[in-house]
Amino acid sequence: MPTILAVDRAAAIAWYRRNRVRSERIFDLVDPSAYYTRPIALRNPIVFYEGHLPAFSVIAFLRRGLGKPPVDRRLEDLFARGIDPDSVDAAVPRSGAQTRWPSRDDVRAFARACDEAILGALREDLLPVEGLYTALEHEAMHQETLLYMWHRLPFDQKRRPSGEGRGANGEGRGATGEERGASRGNAARLGAAESVVVPAGTATLGAERAHTVFGWDNEFEAHRVDVGAFEIDILPVANAQFLDFVNAGGYETRELWDDEGWAWIRADHVEHPAFWLSGDAPRSSPLASRGWQWRGMFEAIPLPLDWPVYVSQAEANAYARWKGRRVMTEAEFHRAAFGDGGSTSGGDHGSTRLDSEGAAWTAPPGHYDFAGFDPVPVGSFPESAGPWGAHDLIGNGWEWTSTVFGPFPGFRPMASYPEYSAEFFDGRHYVMKGASPATAKELVRPSFRNWFRGNYPYVYAKFRTVA
Ligand code: AVJ
Ligand code: FE
Repeated sequence: MPTILAVDRAAAIAWYRRNRVRSERIFDLVDPSAYYTRPIALRNPIVFYEGHLPAFSVIAFLRRGLGKPPVDRRLEDLFARGIDPDSVDAAVPRSGAQTRWPSRDDVRAFARACDEAILGALREDLLPVEGLYTALEHEAMHQETLLYMWHRLPFDQKRRPSGEGRGANGEGRGATGEERGASRGNAARLGAAESVVVPAGTATLGAERAHTVFGWDNEFEAHRVDVGAFEIDILPVANAQFLDFVNAGGYETRELWDDEGWAWIRADHVEHPAFWLSGDAPRSSPLASRGWQWRGMFEAIPLPLDWPVYVSQAEANAYARWKGRRVMTEAEFHRAAFGDGGSTSGGDHGSTRLDSEGAAWTAPPGHYDFAGFDPVPVGSFPESAGPWGAHDLIGNGWEWTSTVFGPFPGFRPMASYPEYSAEFFDGRHYVMKGASPATAKELVRPSFRNWFRGNYPYVYAKFRTVA
């Protein structure tokens, strides 16, 4: 294994610093009064995450990767792992007692000590590829976790950064959803219900260990899958179409939901997407119907009808069933996005990632890499459509699939983080592909797999239907 030569020290230091600066900006969006609150009852309070990022980097990179001692064993234990319980009740015992969490000053002092130790090692030690990339990609992933959590916080507990419409990069690309949509002129497509047929063929899933500098355990091994012909919506389902489902009583129609989905919407009184607000909106607004609003990061706005609807997989399935269709499989995503191309890995890591043909995979332009805090109109990147003309497969929201998250043939838990995937091979988590506005560019590659419970409604995840 070329575990040492493959890493460019300067690139690793630059990425680590870039990560830390972005994380700090993200924590700065939150009012300090919210620090011990849990924006999502199924997750830890905010304080946990400010400690978790450095603690995890120390554990994966310094301790497991380099065999170095802990920076602060007690805090590393406390901040080692997040939670993903199946109910709010199960979440309470671990994170309910606020007094267990340290003061913010202590968390920050710990983070500084971790940064110092990590930067020292990055400058001087031989760099263990897996432990290093595990730490770096983990922090990038959590930046998305943090942002979708912040989306649940009350508006008065958040502070909009200077430079309106910009993502968490600070120097982000800038355009707001409306500007982008207007400049792209995609509105004519709305409601057209256009679809294309993807012919039968093979898809290549996963990455080849031998030709990949780093991938998470669930990305290996590469393998080809035969995929039958299918018809696919060229655009993700937008709020406009989902509104029809809501107005048609979709949330009250038992037959559209599987048992688990139905039990969830009944128990949690789910009547609309978690990103929608109902009620007090001015009914006169031409865009809003029945007062629906979009719960943006910093304010509520009249429901943007041409933005992708963000929903749980259970809601996506119910909508698709209502249309007499279904949500695509993971293999179908690969067919629609990459054709029978053999791009099995990729990503821009200082040109160190090579696919099996020896060529770096380049992500197409799209709404990802902290390009904004909210989505843009569907179809805003026509130049990035897949080989058969399906838009928005990479960016503007993860794409839900119907595929249960599981190991590829040849799966091996990774030494630097053995629990990463294996703990979630429980038949209750589903694969999401692509990228969202809050997905770092380093994570955008064909083999990257994301996953959540089918009834988790808080992530930046969209869908489309196939037949
Ligand atoms: C891969 C996004 C599902 O956030 O639960 C972070 C990533 N794992 N820390 C998650 C993760 C451990 C994980 N997802
Ligand atoms: Fe984590």
